[in-house]
Amino acid sequence: MSDQHSHQSFETRAIHAGNTADPLTGAVVPPIYQVSTYKQDGVGGLRGGYEYSRSANPTRTALEENLAALEGGRRGLAFASGLAAEDCLLRALLAPGDHVVIPNDAYGGTFRLFAKVVERWGVDFSVANTSDIESVRGAVNERTKLIWVETPSNPLLGITDIEAVAGVARQAGVKLVVDNTFASPYLQQPLALGADVVVHSLTKYMGGHSDVVGGALVTADEALGEELAYHQNAMGAVAGPFDSWIVLRGIKTLAVRMDRHSENATKIAEMLTQHPKVTQVLYPGLPEHPGHEIAAKQMRSFGGMISFRVQGGEDAAVEVCNRAQLFTLGESLGGVESLIEHPGRMTHASVAGSLLEVPADLVRISVGIENVDDLLADLRQALG
Ligand SMILES: Cc1ncc(COP(=O)(O)O)c(C=O)c1O
Repeated sequence: MSDQHSHQSFETRAIHAGNTADPLTGAVVPPIYQVSTYKQDGVGGLRGGYEYSRSANPTRTALEENLAALEGGRRGLAFASGLAAEDCLLRALLAPGDHVVIPNDAYGGTFRLFAKVVERWGVDFSVANTSDIESVRGAVNERTKLIWVETPSNPLLGITDIEAVAGVARQAGVKLVVDNTFASPYLQQPLALGADVVVHSLTKYMGGHSDVVGGALVTADEALGEELAYHQNAMGAVAGPFDSWIVLRGIKTLAVRMDRHSENATKIAEMLTQHPKVTQVLYPGLPEHPGHEIAAKQMRSFGGMISFRVQGGEDAAVEVCNRAQLFTLGESLGGVESLIEHPGRMTHASVAGSLLEVPADLVRISVGIENVDDLLADLRQALG
């Protein structure tokens, strides 16, 4: 984060960091620099430091500076998707023979990247219950290079104590990566808790309107940031100027959106716990959630994601998803509109048969910022 923004509160940084007025026109919002290359004043004479938009583009720079400021980092990098960011990170940090500790609950696509892509290049992994610090410690071996954590996790809403895992990582001399997609930097600041790198699917709360796919890496370590930026350019899966702009626009309302997401989700989780057709509610805001105390310690509030299990198994869960009307049946999460899905058949189909398999009677909802009474009514009718 630049010193200019370090004293500002989160909401102010979300609106101003990286968003300097356009030097040419004074436009208060950074323009979409829809351009691939830049005129040079003589060979090597770059006007603004820009030479080719894979390497850097002013709209992307605005977003990257904003991301660094929001996570309390020094370097932010924006990618074409969350998985592109993850891929860049793994290939920058790992080599054949290395070992990684991954969580037993994570986005299915992240697991697929480890199991079907990275493993083929000679990097193996162990699955740990990252909510249990001894499980993490036990999974680390002499070849381990990084520990991967997702908290809250997708789709089981497990909570990992970031500070405690950072201690294990430091002791073992390995890097800690935290996927902060479910919380967003407004609710949780992994770098301040000892993480080396934060990963985001910008597609979710950061964009916030279900209209863009993007990803990010943020680190407070300048040398590591340089290394990652080198790989970002060398591999090339960068965020385009329009996508960067639309994420930057979404981030300006992140704080107010997250407050409403959390508020609505708390009321919905409470209703679900009372519902006779619901056998279990997974929401870190509930006092009975096993990670509640840690979540309360490391998160500002508990976010907009809830999973719940229904009586009647897989068919009943699928029925609930099909009956919902205001909750749109669809993958993804984090937009202003509420979504519902069946992880086993949809977002997490790629973990079937693995240690990350999810329960068949599980329904996941992304609680939007609509009027909560309308959302409650829809879920009640969907549950029947
Ligand atoms: C927690 C989490 N991390 C990473 C990703 C991957 O992001 P993207 O879909 O933008 O590639 C997702 C996507 O659902 C996710 O939920």
